[in-house]
Amino acid sequence: MAQLMKIDGKRLLQDLLVLRDFTDTPGSGVTRFSYGTQDKKAREYLFEQAKALGCRIETDALKNVRIHMPQNKPECKRVVIGSHVDTVRNGGWLDGIYGVTGGLAVLRALKDCQLNRNLELVIFAEEEGSNFGSTMTGSKFIIGSYSGPDLDKLKNDQGVSLRTILGDPSPTELEAVQWDFAQIEAMLELHIEQGPVLERKGLPLGIVDVIFGMQVIEVEIKGVGNHAGATPMVDRKDALCAAAQCILAAEEMVGPDGTSVVTVGRIHAEPDCSNVIPEKAWFTLEVRDRDNKKIQTYMEHIIAAFKEICSQRGVDCQITRTSSSKPLSLDTGLIETMKGLAEKKRIPHQVMDSGAVHDACMIANHARTGMIFVPSIGGRSHVPEEDTKKEDLILGAQFLLDLASDLTGAK
Ligand code: GLV
Ligand code: MN
Ligand code: MN
Repeated sequence: MAQLMKIDGKRLLQDLLVLRDFTDTPGSGVTRFSYGTQDKKAREYLFEQAKALGCRIETDALKNVRIHMPQNKPECKRVVIGSHVDTVRNGGWLDGIYGVTGGLAVLRALKDCQLNRNLELVIFAEEEGSNFGSTMTGSKFIIGSYSGPDLDKLKNDQGVSLRTILGDPSPTELEAVQWDFAQIEAMLELHIEQGPVLERKGLPLGIVDVIFGMQVIEVEIKGVGNHAGATPMVDRKDALCAAAQCILAAEEMVGPDGTSVVTVGRIHAEPDCSNVIPEKAWFTLEVRDRDNKKIQTYMEHIIAAFKEICSQRGVDCQITRTSSSKPLSLDTGLIETMKGLAEKKRIPHQVMDSGAVHDACMIANHARTGMIFVPSIGGRSHVPEEDTKKEDLILGAQFLLDLASDLTGAK
């Protein structure tokens, strides 16, 4: 196994620090939505770094990016490394961007090597779904599970469609977004764990076997708005109280499970006035697990319970399914290779699942895919406190380099 190259850890940390400042919310975590100004700035910085290595940069109609090493040849298969640069609102400085800067560090380390497979850094667009409500949007187009009509369906909070944001790409441009998976030798995503497992066990490295699936719904409850002082409690049809009862019912149902998780991450009431009984309540709800049957069963029970609660309260309840992905097993061959490499390098590690979804889930149905985790301090992620020890960040990137060197036959 080739294993001579070394990651420039200082540069990796420097890149991450530069990119941390590309945020719409300075001082309150990183907010960098896809297709926004900060996303553009982060990409420009990364492109500059890649161009300095002589790499060729290709951006598709969805704004997914492929960065090709100068020594790549059209006839060779592709080893793809990468992740995303977008964040949730007030998110952390490492989610996604660590996999991209780690990938860049690998390109730097292999710049002058001979490769017998092509090496490519990919930046997936709109992974978080912060703009358009659907996670892994860029990779869903890459695998063809989203196509032209989805560009019209996906709308941001201002009601602007993804098609408009992207400048109305032609059917030919959209077709070109899809990858030819026969050309992919392997895909590797380096990421922070985003949970407490590695830190609790004192392990610097995780090798992912299964990524949780998820189903997401939007719930709109319509009651009757009225005066907050003059309307007796018995005469109310309060949409927000109905929503509160629904949310707690879902928590009670899933809470004791131990593996499955349920989250209501967004909620708002209308008219949003302290002295008006809410006429409307709207919220999102998602269920995740490593077992798809459990996700389906919980979701069916939750929807039935919501209908029952709303009918008892005499309010209307509309439920829309917005997004779903199935649990995914990653490539067993790559898992064995990673275990072997970790053992050889005497890195304490464990094989584990991922509660967070990743673009790797989309690719894994079509090509050999592996994921590497490093610990998250305090198990915190998607919040400004998100962090990882410097030495773990460097260790993860070095592990990615060793693996990529092996898969590309770097010499
Ligand atoms: C993406 O980070 C997700 O798991 O929602
Ligand atoms: Mn995330
Ligand atoms: Mn991520």
